[in-house]
Amino acid sequence: MKTVGFVGWRGMVGSVLMERMREERDFDFIDPVFFTTSNVGGPGPDVGKPVTTLKDANDVAELAKLDCIITCQGGDYTKAIFPKLRAAGWKGYWIDAASALRMEKDAVIILDPVNRPVIDAAIKAGKKDFIGGNCTVSCMLMAVDGLFKADLIEWISAMTYQAASGGGAQTMRELLQQMGEVHFAAKGMLQDPNSPILDIDREVAGILRDESFPTEHFGVPLAGSLLPWIDTDLGNGQSREEWKGDAETNKILGRADGNRVAVDGVCVRVGAMRCHSQGLTIKLKKDVPLEEIESILASGNKWVKVVPNKREETLKRLTPVAVTGTLEIPIGRLRKLKMGGQYLSAFTVGDQLLWGAAEPLRRMLRILAG
Ligand code: HSE
Repeated sequence: MKTVGFVGWRGMVGSVLMERMREERDFDFIDPVFFTTSNVGGPGPDVGKPVTTLKDANDVAELAKLDCIITCQGGDYTKAIFPKLRAAGWKGYWIDAASALRMEKDAVIILDPVNRPVIDAAIKAGKKDFIGGNCTVSCMLMAVDGLFKADLIEWISAMTYQAASGGGAQTMRELLQQMGEVHFAAKGMLQDPNSPILDIDREVAGILRDESFPTEHFGVPLAGSLLPWIDTDLGNGQSREEWKGDAETNKILGRADGNRVAVDGVCVRVGAMRCHSQGLTIKLKKDVPLEEIESILASGNKWVKVVPNKREETLKRLTPVAVTGTLEIPIGRLRKLKMGGQYLSAFTVGDQLLWGAAEPLRRMLRILAG
């Protein structure tokens, strides 16, 4: 594989991808070609080597010259361009951050520290479509990787605390605007240490419910609140985000009927910036001592870190603030629940723009580049 086309490299996930690829010197292994939907002929990005001017991301003939395309442009682009490219006979590799193709029969969901054997088998079988997973699922699987490898999991209930970035760059900005508005409403009274807290609270509730409060992107306030519904309503009481937990986990792990692991829970948006957190209840296939579980988890992959179930270390290491911008996947709050020795409690945090989006894509490129 030589030429790799990049589409959507300027957006939020695309920018994280570019940054990581520069850090890891991935551009040394490929000939990159940069595409655009809005600035054809403009200059390409600085990737440490000369690149041509930007080409048209809707030009199927131009795209069809490439050995591989990596896109962070979003699902609408995938739906519009991918079928045309394949219909034109293009046989290259398609690496995609969007969910559009994830559940297609011939697509593989990529998370190589967890499912490298599934990826290797797919490459050998001539598969060409490699799609990044849902961020929550990818971060959860990175955390409990060891327990899956040891085939110790019967089911998982995941209660999520998902960051604003999962909704896109605009929702991150809106969260900050909302925070500012809330503070502005309370600012005068906060300056007086004797102002009654219930007066402050009344003022804050007032601005949160005010028609002028900025909610263009979330639809409702997230600052000072939370949103217990993410993505669309499937009409059966489940959100699409919750549905993905089971569907994608089993697809990533290559588990079919008879061997599936049930994953379900409640997905909730909170006012964190870019780290998704999850409270997990795991039903184990057998009662394994906690110490053994900790060492199995720690050996799952290079990025997972077991945090001792102690107050200080938890608050220092197991929060979105501690994890943001890093590839570490801490998992802690590990203990057996009152329900019995097969019931494990855990809490994990992951940067959803890294392991949840950009990192599996650049690693797939390296696997294909050999
Ligand atoms: N669906 C995720 C979220 C985003 O809304 O947080 C990335 O998969």
